Amino acid sequence: MNFQAISSERLPELLRAMPKTELHMHIEGSLEPELIFALAKRNNVRLNYASVQALREAYAFTDLQSFLDIYYAGASVLQQPQDFYDMAWAYFLRAKADNVVHAEIFFDPQTHTARKVAMRTVITGLYRACVDAQTKLGISSSLILCFLRHLSEDEAFDTFEEAFPFRDMFIGVGLDSSERGHPPEKFERVFKRAAQLGFKLVAHAGEEGPPAYMWSALDVLKVQRIDHGVQAIHDEALMARLAKDRVPLTVCPLSNQKLCVFPNLADHNLGQMLDRGLCVMLNSDDPAYFGGYLNDNFVQTFAALPLNASHAYQLASNSFEASFVPEAQKQAWQHQLDACFAQFGA
Ligand code: HPA
Ligand code: ZN
Repeated sequence: MNFQAISSERLPELLRAMPKTELHMHIEGSLEPELIFALAKRNNVRLNYASVQALREAYAFTDLQSFLDIYYAGASVLQQPQDFYDMAWAYFLRAKADNVVHAEIFFDPQTHTARKVAMRTVITGLYRACVDAQTKLGISSSLILCFLRHLSEDEAFDTFEEAFPFRDMFIGVGLDSSERGHPPEKFERVFKRAAQLGFKLVAHAGEEGPPAYMWSALDVLKVQRIDHGVQAIHDEALMARLAKDRVPLTVCPLSNQKLCVFPNLADHNLGQMLDRGLCVMLNSDDPAYFGGYLNDNFVQTFAALPLNASHAYQLASNSFEASFVPEAQKQAWQHQLDACFAQFGA
């Protein structure tokens, strides 16, 4: 492929147009302030903010925890299956506009069951939106149930058991929430059980936490992907392992910037990780809170770093490779990607 044929002026257009998957997006993190207010009204929930603007102004984070506090508060307006559907449908419309062909979507059931919202309400509402995304928008998707790591492993087991009647509606389990002080190995038994039952395994690690958490995500939890993983850069042996095994890292640049993992996008290590041959790709994490959906992540990151069309191709390719779909589907997307680059003269 002749990547040099694509000038830097045309790069944003290419980034937007190319087909891509999204593998790290928390559906509760796609809840826009306008929808939070609409759902609060629909469900008679009192909010601690006077207006959409006041809520948006509170989105000034200093670290992961400062974000999580406000993110869990926002989710309190979700009560009925239709609320979960509306939230997910709004995401799928954005995904369609960004040429996302496939999304693997995280949800945090414990945030809802703790408020006496039934597991059935959460999963069936989200799942119905996934079905409609396929039939009405042509976007395929699957759900990944995340355990909140600041809670106990016993609570994770209870949650997993509650979700079991809906096991055909989600494909995997993940681990999110406050990372520091909650290493992956805390959840060894529940991940082992999920693996035995045939679920895919992923975990957030190396967002704020040390490379040691990435080692235990791989060797104790036996995850197939690591979410974030940007701290790997501080551990040469880990970088070699990730490259050798092509362990996907679902990187989220705007999230990393907003949560002060890197002072600026220009300081992000995405370019270094790509140049080391790691299977990294871009994701929006919590787009309603971090200032952008997937194409915003692409365009802003490429504007801030010395990245070119060959990097764009690699990121899209990696996003197919890292997805939990059959090989034939990955190849079909790869052909679509090649056709898109050919249209841009590559
Ligand atoms: N890290 C940990 N937990 C989360 C995140 C994240 O980036 N987003 C939503 N829950
Ligand atoms: Zn995340």
